[in-house]
Amino acid sequence: MAADQFTVRSGTADDFDDLFLVLQRAFNDDPDDAERDDERQVYEPDRSILAYRGDALAGTAAAYTRELTVPGGVVPAAHVSMVGVDPTFRRQGVLTRMMTHQLADIRGRGEPVALLWASEGRIYQRYGYGLAARKLAFEIEREVRLRETPPPGGLRGGTPAELVADLRAVYERVRVDRVGWSSRPGIWWDHLLGDLPKRRRGASMLRGVVHDGPDGPDGYALWRVRGDWSSTGPRGEVVVREVAAATTGAYRALWHHLLTVDLTRSTSMWIAAIDEPLLFLVDEPRRVGARLGDGLWLRVVDVPAALTARRYAAPVDVVVAVDDPQLPDNSGAWHLVGDPTGAKCVRADRPAELRCEVSALAAVYLGDASLATLAAAGRVRELVPGTLAPAATAFGWPRPPSAVEIF
Ligand SMILES: CC(C)(COP(=O)(O)OP(=O)(O)OC[C@H]1O[C@@H](n2cnc3c(N)ncnc32)[C@H](O)[C@@H]1OP(=O)(O)O)[C@@H](O)C(=O)NCCC(=O)NCCS
Repeated sequence: MAADQFTVRSGTADDFDDLFLVLQRAFNDDPDDAERDDERQVYEPDRSILAYRGDALAGTAAAYTRELTVPGGVVPAAHVSMVGVDPTFRRQGVLTRMMTHQLADIRGRGEPVALLWASEGRIYQRYGYGLAARKLAFEIEREVRLRETPPPGGLRGGTPAELVADLRAVYERVRVDRVGWSSRPGIWWDHLLGDLPKRRRGASMLRGVVHDGPDGPDGYALWRVRGDWSSTGPRGEVVVREVAAATTGAYRALWHHLLTVDLTRSTSMWIAAIDEPLLFLVDEPRRVGARLGDGLWLRVVDVPAALTARRYAAPVDVVVAVDDPQLPDNSGAWHLVGDPTGAKCVRADRPAELRCEVSALAAVYLGDASLATLAAAGRVRELVPGTLAPAATAFGWPRPPSAVEIF
């Protein structure tokens, strides 16, 4: 059988150029030396996977070692990326082989969850990933205004390179409470602020603005402008990349700035939270033009470790049966006891009360979808009447997760 001719191995530093070439083919991209060198900065050779048929490189996958904020805590999380199969080797099981190899590797490293952005949502569900953080995209018309104009002042503009120390400090302060945000080891700031011309898509260089509060920097925004003119005047667009704010004052001042930049007529943002406070600050939420999309896809790699690592909004004592053919150690009945201060999940010694697909567990893990919603979709079953509602409440969290960056 042709598929049996594939072999899979872990990578080395020397593999990067070949690996990147396959990715560019898979993504229908042209070769780009600057992009390759930029991606090389964050490459972790021993976390990459290469699939071969004979000497021909057929596909690659990789992962980054970062932390993820979950309800009430921070956990090590494999950040899966650089997944691609050469177009001539598609649909012969290469991705399935790489995912099998990678999930075993992640489990061996002791990371309880893996997460990724999917180019197409249908690709990863078969490997146990669930949609764990949805996002909004905004197309905001210029007529939209904040209900109350914040006082002027407090903002300091600059290039991201000039402001990077403040950006890092604010991000670290904010991310520990923002479920869905990832740690950014030093090299990641270089990578994320790299600002390659190819990634500007016709817009300006990346700009930064920092908000200085009474105790120093407490918020920032990263944005570009796509300039344009019509016969009736300027009609540029502010393209917002990221807003991080530790205080309401910073958040309001930054958004006021982003909604009113001179010579622009609209403001867009591709990755906003589904509960973005902006929706409740503006005079006309409808004209924010919000569109729902998928953000983070998560895989629970180690069920007891993952369920123990997060906190619960209300006391919970429930036995959940999980079926995980790809990682059989996850299968079986798990007894979860938890509350807002801590949790413990061990093998159960009483019958299951809920049954949950492992990808459905992923979808509720960060507190976005409710267990009750997954039950309505038929992907969670209430085996003992009366156990679903309290468990659904406990798995919630005061704010839903948000995605902050594509990695
Ligand atoms: C997506 C991609 C990695 C799939 O690789 P592949 O080796 O063709 O996948 P496999 O042969 O292992 O497919 C496994 C299964 O997933 C299905 N599948 C794979 N990619 C799919 C897609 N894009 N849409 C729908 N189904 C897909 C296959 O049909 C197969 O189904 P089956 O088990 O029922 O037969 C490859 O098509 C690719 O590189 N695409 C472009 C780059 C990309 O999108 N990468 C993902 C980045 S997040």
